[in-house]
Amino acid sequence: MDTGIRTDRIEAVREIVSGMLEQVPDVSLRASGYVHIFGVADACVLLAMKRDEDIELAAVAGYLHDIATYTTGISADHARRGAGMARSILSRTGLFSEEEIKTVFSAIFYHSNKKEIHGPLDEILKDADVMQHCLFDPGYVSKKDRERFEGLCEEFGL
Ligand SMILES: [Fe+2]
Repeated sequence: MDTGIRTDRIEAVREIVSGMLEQVPDVSLRASGYVHIFGVADACVLLAMKRDEDIELAAVAGYLHDIATYTTGISADHARRGAGMARSILSRTGLFSEEEIKTVFSAIFYHSNKKEIHGPLDEILKDADVMQHCLFDPGYVSKKDRERFEGLCEEFGL
């Protein structure tokens, strides 16, 4: 089935992110980076399919969203820092238009603002972040994730 999705662009970003994670010296931080980042990217694809939004950009935003945290071990201000990192990574690939880079930048920039509502791709990334936390540990939903998780359960008829 031809979906029209350019998997080469997703693959290129996935390889860059994998390469960056490989360099993380702390084994447990590296392992949780793979689990969380790859899980969020998968959840982004699922949500983009469900909401009829751009699947490639959703996947790319998922792969890059916490890159600042996992490459430095510091999570403070990681959304803003990661958005800047994502912008330069995507520009360097030469595979994305300015408009596409802006869309991914915005999603990463706002992804810590879970209480606010932004654009469709911004919301996909926030919800995918929550979805991965809740699927990883189905016995525990944190207070900060609760409202979005309830919305996701309703959206998926759970
Ligand atoms: Fe995250």
